[in-house]
Amino acid sequence: MKNGTLWKDIDGNDIQAHGGMSLAHEGTFYWYGEHKGADNCPGTTRVDVIGVSCYSSADLMNWKYEGLVIEADHTDPDSPMYYKKVCERPKVIYCRKTGKFVLWMHLDSADYTFAGVGIAVSDSPVGPFTLITAKQPNRLDSRDMTVFQDHDGTAYLFHSSNWNKMMAISRLTDDYTDVDGFFKYALIDQSREAPAICMHNSKYYMVTSGCTGWEPNSALYAVSDYAMGTWELIDNPCEGENYRRTFEGQSSYIFEYGGRKYLMLDHWKPYDLRNSGYSFLPLEIDEKGIMTIKWTDEFLV
Ligand code: GAL
Repeated sequence: MKNGTLWKDIDGNDIQAHGGMSLAHEGTFYWYGEHKGADNCPGTTRVDVIGVSCYSSADLMNWKYEGLVIEADHTDPDSPMYYKKVCERPKVIYCRKTGKFVLWMHLDSADYTFAGVGIAVSDSPVGPFTLITAKQPNRLDSRDMTVFQDHDGTAYLFHSSNWNKMMAISRLTDDYTDVDGFFKYALIDQSREAPAICMHNSKYYMVTSGCTGWEPNSALYAVSDYAMGTWELIDNPCEGENYRRTFEGQSSYIFEYGGRKYLMLDHWKPYDLRNSGYSFLPLEIDEKGIMTIKWTDEFLV
């Protein structure tokens, strides 16, 4: 898997799972993302919504297409999943308490002014997921987002809010299907998006990008003692050639495998979104808590 390029599934088809994440469940990895497998709407940087795709793998290298776990609506313009709207950055967490898989995603109007989330549930990791609701969590505008499941089972929505000026952190209810009303702001007036969270040695780490749309910019990481603690911006974790443009990529998720962490990146092609590439880059945190992300030509585990 050559980093920075569009990868193929085991049938030789393009992997369409942008802005995605990888969930490990019972020995299988599931990669969810935006299916952008259509031409851009002429002259624009959008692809009509197709849905959220799912791929499965035993080794993170060979991915089998499991289909769309939730699909765009082609008939009802009032549906939050209407194909002329926006559905981005899907993230799935498994709720031990209910035995359900819960999908959170950024749902929006075509002009990004609805600025909400969609929440959907399924009994199976490969769907189908049923949309429960689409709304602004805690009545906050919410654009780029991720969900993070803490070691104690509490889960949080991290979402760019206040026109992306701050990162809001909203705690979820214990069935993960809603926010519980408790939230706080982090990275105030820093205008960060594309959050990706991980934990290391009892500290919490958040990698974000700047807000320049599809255009690459410098990543930054922040550290906190708690998911809803005081997040301190530290530095750009990327090192080496092109580190200031995040190797032409943008963060989407951090997963762990074999005791190592990897940052998933999207390499957007704004006018040809279906051909946007992926990278899984090793993310290291040293004994002082300093994070480093270096380019590797290939993803190998
Ligand atoms: C980026 C964001 C993407 C998408 C894009 C649209 O800033 O990270 O997920 O929303 O803007 O322009």
